[in-house]
Amino acid sequence: MIERFGVKQCKNVAIIMDGNGRWATERTHRRVWGHVRGSSVVSDIVESADDLCVESLTLYAFSTENWCRPEFEVKTLFKLLKKFLLKERAKLLKNNIKFRVIGDWSRLPEETKLLIADLQETTKDFTGLKLTFAFGYGGRSEIVNSVKKLVESGKEITEENLSDSLYAPDIKDIDLLIRTGGDQRISNFLLWQCAYAELYFTETRWPAFTREEFESIIFNVENRERRFGAVSCMESLESTKKLAEQNGSLFS
Ligand code: FPP
Repeated sequence: MIERFGVKQCKNVAIIMDGNGRWATERTHRRVWGHVRGSSVVSDIVESADDLCVESLTLYAFSTENWCRPEFEVKTLFKLLKKFLLKERAKLLKNNIKFRVIGDWSRLPEETKLLIADLQETTKDFTGLKLTFAFGYGGRSEIVNSVKKLVESGKEITEENLSDSLYAPDIKDIDLLIRTGGDQRISNFLLWQCAYAELYFTETRWPAFTREEFESIIFNVENRERRFGAVSCMESLESTKKLAEQNGSLFS
């Protein structure tokens, strides 16, 4: 957590952008219309995360399971990714945003792969918001992949080494995982990185998600206390003080 204007703030945020299909069918549109509207929400939320000085934003854009969707839907998602890359490129560069795609994106069209590779290379040393799209991504595959890398390199299998071999090692532990669309699951997203994440589920379908809701989640959740299995700072301080009173002052 970082602190801005005296308020604690989540540094590493991830979002499962769910509910596109339902949003569209509830409005008697085809499912893909939800993805189209959802992709403009992506641009708004990236802008908001950047404004809020979030350190990293990781978005679940396409899971390994999504390959089973109808071809038209898969192709539409590919096209939306390409459109995003073309449309937002200048803004990402201007705002010093480091862009990456994690997962197996080898099945994307050649032109899109080139756009990703170029944007990743151009922004690799940028120091602003770390924006990561998970595309063709699965959390279990990522962990297996990381273990394989360690075995091949002969390094010891430790938590630290495993973290360092993930797809994007500089995305540290996720502070906050948001899922839109009403379901309360993690769905194979950032399994390793979410070990201590605060989870926030909203009924709002992704295409209806707004900057305002994002900002209010960030500011509300960040003031929940995270103890990582330990006692809270206040509890710990209180018990230390009590001990000091019992045993003569430790502070004098
Ligand atoms: C889940 O909704 C969402 C996805 C499978 C894809 C998320 C993609 C976008 C937000 C647009 C892509 C944009 C970019 C820039 C990559 P769902 O279809 O599973 O919704 P449902 O649960 O209502 O069926």
